Amino acid sequence: MNSYIGIDLGTSSVKMLLVGANVEFLNSVSRDYPISYPQSGWSEQNPEDWATQTIDGLCELLEGQDKSSVKGISFGGQMHGLVILDENDKVIRPAILWNDGRTQEQSDRLNSEVGKQTLSSYTANISFAGFTAPKILWVEENEPECFARISKLMLPKDYVAYVLSGVHATDYSDASGMLLLDVKNKCWSDEMTKICHIKRQWLPTLYESYEPIGKIKPEIAHRVGLSESVVICAGAGDNAAAAIGTGTIKDGSCNISLGTSGTVFISKDTFSVDENNSLHSFCHATGKYHLMGCILSAASCNKWWMENILESDDYVGEQKGLFDIIYENEVYFLPYLMGERSPHNDAGARGAFIGMRPNTTRKHMLLAIMEGVAFALRDCVEVAKASGVKIEKSLICGGGAKNEIWRTVVANVLGIEVQRPVTEQGPSYGGAILAMVGCGEYSSLDEAIDSLVQIKDSILPNEKLTAYYDNKYKLFKQIYPALRGIYAQF
Ligand code: XUL
Repeated sequence: MNSYIGIDLGTSSVKMLLVGANVEFLNSVSRDYPISYPQSGWSEQNPEDWATQTIDGLCELLEGQDKSSVKGISFGGQMHGLVILDENDKVIRPAILWNDGRTQEQSDRLNSEVGKQTLSSYTANISFAGFTAPKILWVEENEPECFARISKLMLPKDYVAYVLSGVHATDYSDASGMLLLDVKNKCWSDEMTKICHIKRQWLPTLYESYEPIGKIKPEIAHRVGLSESVVICAGAGDNAAAAIGTGTIKDGSCNISLGTSGTVFISKDTFSVDENNSLHSFCHATGKYHLMGCILSAASCNKWWMENILESDDYVGEQKGLFDIIYENEVYFLPYLMGERSPHNDAGARGAFIGMRPNTTRKHMLLAIMEGVAFALRDCVEVAKASGVKIEKSLICGGGAKNEIWRTVVANVLGIEVQRPVTEQGPSYGGAILAMVGCGEYSSLDEAIDSLVQIKDSILPNEKLTAYYDNKYKLFKQIYPALRGIYAQF
């Protein structure tokens, strides 16, 4: 039986899955790397750490496995991050990540000087601080010596694919988040490359996510023990890859991701843009399109609470008893630890707890975190609804989706059925499926998903809890506008 590797280049770690072509999960490995916050609201990673951990992780993944059965590798990757290489292929500076808010000024300038409507006509999107184009302007303005050395520009997973294959490529779904792609027509936007002073030869070649870009480099193949004939397929941005991994490919179907970020991903057969560009309008890994709302901190809020505040790794123990206090929690949490993307577009927003009393416990605060993330996702869903998108149920994936209480809170805050597929590891499973299609194991993504993606369980909203959360959401919605003026003074 042939097997395939899906690599999810995430923000806290790289997660790898080895999957048999008949859906057998053969092995999985996760390797962490550091993230640095050099200034308030900035976030960076070292691309060489991604590559080292991926290659070492591949060795671990393949230990004791039938290496000769591996036919292909593909990816899901954290989106928008800027990786720049010089003419000798050396990384020029650390990657500026998707949740880095330093570029608010450049982003605001694009929205006001080029204009939101014009940007949308070029790229189907307006600018957000996390997108790649404002990062390029930031480097040009703040580190001209780095800008002058650029010879290649790429996204995080494309850097790893480049190290593995030597091919400078990207896919349409990930390229959509650069604000350099004409999403509707699936080509680089000449206007945007001019506005950002980018030379066309710096940009990668565009592929569909399931298309092969090349083969594994012989030296890497020998190092990890794979055959030199292993095919590398382009892969997708992590959200589009997760949508493949959860089977979110039909028009109007929805996937929620509770990873470092939180996203509401709506698959679309045809290209569309909402009136205010409140949702991202991107290409899907299927070759079609999708709409998406993205909150910058989701499962990362839980991680922050556990690791930085409680200094505990007992996630399971800490979550005990939360169901018992669900109707009595007066605490609210705004999850804007890294500012917020959708729908506020405000890199200066910050996290906040509000509503504590002397009898408030850490349990109330943890539940408030889960509720705050769910309310922020509801903000995205409300924008989607206002633009005519109906969401009746959703798949869910990401680390936070393992947690039953969190899935219950999401189902009831959104008032929809939430279904969990065979694996929460959406992007890496999606990557493996993309590789299977790219290598001809299945004749289409539809056929692959029909055979490979099943629903494991599902949570239905209950009337009483949905009504309770509807009420709580009414107050939640008022907190950010009330704090905005204070955030501006930090
Ligand atoms: C999507 C986004 C995040 C990152 C996280 O627009 O910025 O979901 O891709 O990995």
